[in-house]
Amino acid sequence: MKERVLGASGVKVSRLVYGCMRLVDGDRSHGKRAVQAAIDAGFTIFDHADIYGGGECERLFGEVLAGSPGLREQLFLVSKCGIRFAGDRNADAPKRYDFSRKHILASVEGSLRRLDTDRLDLLLLHRPDLLGDPGEIAAAFAELKASGKVRWFGVSNFRPSQLSLLASAVDEPLIVNQVEISLARLDAFDDGTLDQCTELGIVPQAWSPLRGAVLPSADVEADARVRRELDRQSEHYGVADWVVALAWLLKHPAGIAPVIGSTNAERIRLAPASLGVDYTREDWYRLLEARNGCEVA
Ligand SMILES: NC(=O)c1ccc[n+]([C@@H]2O[C@H](COP(=O)([O-])OP(=O)(O)OC[C@H]3O[C@@H](n4cnc5c(N)ncnc54)[C@H](OP(=O)(O)O)[C@@H]3O)[C@@H](O)[C@H]2O)c1
Repeated sequence: MKERVLGASGVKVSRLVYGCMRLVDGDRSHGKRAVQAAIDAGFTIFDHADIYGGGECERLFGEVLAGSPGLREQLFLVSKCGIRFAGDRNADAPKRYDFSRKHILASVEGSLRRLDTDRLDLLLLHRPDLLGDPGEIAAAFAELKASGKVRWFGVSNFRPSQLSLLASAVDEPLIVNQVEISLARLDAFDDGTLDQCTELGIVPQAWSPLRGAVLPSADVEADARVRRELDRQSEHYGVADWVVALAWLLKHPAGIAPVIGSTNAERIRLAPASLGVDYTREDWYRLLEARNGCEVA
């Protein structure tokens, strides 16, 4: 697995991220085999959230760490906070976002406990809280940094203006913006997200990178056009269609890091093949054209 430096942290991590959201979708032994397959394939950066599997994804991962002394030091652990589901604490509470100092600190405590670790390497704010106060977030980050409970900070699903505002308030650099990018979600390419990441040295991570390739999008006809073109490119490059879809993301100069969500050990093993594809500009635009149903202007 190739490595990359994670922005201003200076820390080297695997070029692909392993996403832990689906670890308890099947039985727990399947989830643990997926984690082991990711470690064996060379993934060193693992993406969690306090809410994945209602906390069970972090708990399962913590059990893997506890069973493997020394493993924790080899990995870079990411978790997220800020989404609260309906009924959280009070039965009549609505789904909401919560970047209050109190919730951020409590969420991190919960993640540390479930992951069975004394620190998160990176904490991401999961989705913009419309009531989030940058000064209050900055205070929570400073407290977490000072206590050693979180080493680095970042955001997820933030628009460029939201990221700029937060960056102006916090002492620590924001090193990641994790957003949805795929052949079915093209917004980041022209809404300023990837431009901002490049300008500020922030690593863009792509969640659900296979939407519109193997995961369906809302546009059935576009999916069919994309699959036809992926079939052709798959044959040309000698890798699976979904591996081509990852190579398409990796081609972008912003250094997009796809977050791989498969729990299938064979697919996890094959994902790094996307890093070895000598992918052309022409094929990149062919897939864009297939998605849009027309050539670029
Ligand atoms: N920040 C956010 O708001 C946010 C939101 C969603 C997700 N995430 C992160 O992003 C990660 C990845 O998201 P994701 O799981 O949606 O991404 P994904 O990697 O695009 O999708 C994974 C899903 O696609 C299936 N799949 C993969 N290859 C396939 C193939 N060749 N044929 C059929 N099915 C295939 C997988 O099934 P198998 O397991 O059977 O391979 C799995 O169900 C998550 O784990 C999480 O860490 C973040």
